[in-house]
Amino acid sequence: MSSIDESERILATTSHPARSQQERFEKIRTLVRKNSDEASRQLAAEVAALIEKRQAEGKSYVLGLATGSTPVPFYRELIRLHQEGLSFNNVVTFNLDEYYGLQRDHPESYYRFMHDQLFDHVDIPAEQIHIPDGTVAMEEVYDYCLSYERQIEEAGGLDLQILGIGRTGHIGFNEPGSAMDSITRMITLDRVTRQDAAADFMGVANVPRSAITMGVGTILKAENLVLMAWGSNKAEIVKEASEGRMTDRVSASFLQTHDHAVFLIDSAASAHLTRFRHPWLVGPVSWDPAMKNRAVTWLSGEIGKPILKLIDEDYNEKGAGELLASTSEAAYEVNIDSFNRVQHTITGWPGGKPNADDSNRPERASPFPKKILVLSPEPMDAFIGMGGTLNRLKEQGHQVKLAFQTSGNLRVADVAALNFARVILEMADAQSVSGWEDQKQYAQSIINALSEKGEFGVDPQLVRKLKGLIIRGEVRDAASVCGLEPEEVTFLDLPFYEKGRYRRFQKTESDLAVMKEALSETEPDIIYITGEAGDPSSNQAISFQVFAEAWEQVAHEPWRKDCRIWAYRGRDGGFETHEIEMAVPMSPDQLEQKVESIRKFMSTSDDDLSASTRNREIAATYDALGMAEYEAIEAFRRWSN
Ligand code: F6R
Repeated sequence: MSSIDESERILATTSHPARSQQERFEKIRTLVRKNSDEASRQLAAEVAALIEKRQAEGKSYVLGLATGSTPVPFYRELIRLHQEGLSFNNVVTFNLDEYYGLQRDHPESYYRFMHDQLFDHVDIPAEQIHIPDGTVAMEEVYDYCLSYERQIEEAGGLDLQILGIGRTGHIGFNEPGSAMDSITRMITLDRVTRQDAAADFMGVANVPRSAITMGVGTILKAENLVLMAWGSNKAEIVKEASEGRMTDRVSASFLQTHDHAVFLIDSAASAHLTRFRHPWLVGPVSWDPAMKNRAVTWLSGEIGKPILKLIDEDYNEKGAGELLASTSEAAYEVNIDSFNRVQHTITGWPGGKPNADDSNRPERASPFPKKILVLSPEPMDAFIGMGGTLNRLKEQGHQVKLAFQTSGNLRVADVAALNFARVILEMADAQSVSGWEDQKQYAQSIINALSEKGEFGVDPQLVRKLKGLIIRGEVRDAASVCGLEPEEVTFLDLPFYEKGRYRRFQKTESDLAVMKEALSETEPDIIYITGEAGDPSSNQAISFQVFAEAWEQVAHEPWRKDCRIWAYRGRDGGFETHEIEMAVPMSPDQLEQKVESIRKFMSTSDDDLSASTRNREIAATYDALGMAEYEAIEAFRRWSN
């Protein structure tokens, strides 16, 4: 690592390099990398060098570790380095936290997670691994936590603590309200944290209510702290922790006090930092039309005035005066340009309007009808992100193909499969049906498999298959609400999903082959996709990566050069106003219909239904900018690599 520029090094050597003017809003040193793999590779290489240095000195290296999806690429890289010869025999580890009440062999225990993701693949001696024990009797927890603190001290303190960040701003499980000097202790998990873990535990009700966690004070004692964050879902909390006031409402903000704390994030997670979101506030920018539009839509929101009413003083007041000064334009001209730009994103014709002048429309008029491929990572994503648009595309006569990239069977609760099996048994027992021996046997094997695997075990193939069929039924129902016929719906059943659990998926070549075939077979004029800014370990992001690689591999096919790709947002955070390139309005009836399609899934949560709130919010934002007032809007952005 010696060739690396000091300002780009993640771990501190002596003192940190000076920050640039652009970074002045950030109270924690922040390094942005293209993606989690690139960031993790660099961090692992630096850590490996330190481990080896200590080995040469005959000393141990004490590493604080985190669980969750964030550190997974880092652990993968450490394993790779081990395979190349790096030894962990002098490494002592302390994990941040553990759910309280989970046995070590529970599939979601952090003990199990750490062994699956790292320890079982490297040569670290078992006695050098420390993970809080979630099974300690309640009356012993206090003493146990003190002894955990003591063990860290006896090991010489943490050389480096790896951190992720929760949407509540927690580090470890230090939920809002955790004091800066808090130590290892039992904590009650926040509602948001439990919600975020719901998919892992097959429902929020199964997520433990409490955990044992290192305290903020314990963490701050580490020599070096690296907090990693990936994906757009983390962008808001990263900004709050780094640029906001230090507060116990956001425990990661306490890193502001630490001399050797670094945020290592990908570009999606960096999007809300002032230097990227409002770059004109931190230094000179090149005022191309997109940048101007970005500043004007932001200014309109800040001042609370529609675009066309903004005056010179408004620009000055909010630090955007440079826009007018450097372009020598009057506010009026800049306003009009931006107004038109936003206005032109609005269209009731998401597949293009046939025989119309399309010079100012987001989509082309021809060809008509178009072959449109809508890709949905899991069955609910397309309905959440673009249920209204799906309906319009169909009504406007396009050839729509709605393709579900994964089977979605992980979304189906055990009870749904159980009920199905019970119905078969009851039917077989009924007088009117005889000779159902095979069916009875099948139903019984489903019931047995469910009881054998227990509430959190991995579903055997037989159960996954049934759950897949159950969700297919829901999908057909939802699609028909949006006007689609069953033959317009297909399932790609990408293999990576069938082998995994949430947060532990890994794509392979066979995923790519399936995706490529779907593209080549359809030869679409338009593709709708999602997941491009998601947490890289999520099903959405992996499905997107599979698409993006397949897209590269069909580069030579003639249809591709005229194919346009629109990104929509399902479960991931929405677009910023300036990012929207197509805004498809919805009437109250259309919105109602979309909600109805989302309700067709048994696993629908309040969060899923809040898609309609987001659609209303986009419409309200457009209204506030001075556009026409719609009930709701679905938003899209062009994607190209
Ligand atoms: C886990 C931990 C948590 C996670 C955080 C982010 O040991 O300490 O603070 O780092 O909840 O979780 P992911 O990485 O799953 O988004």
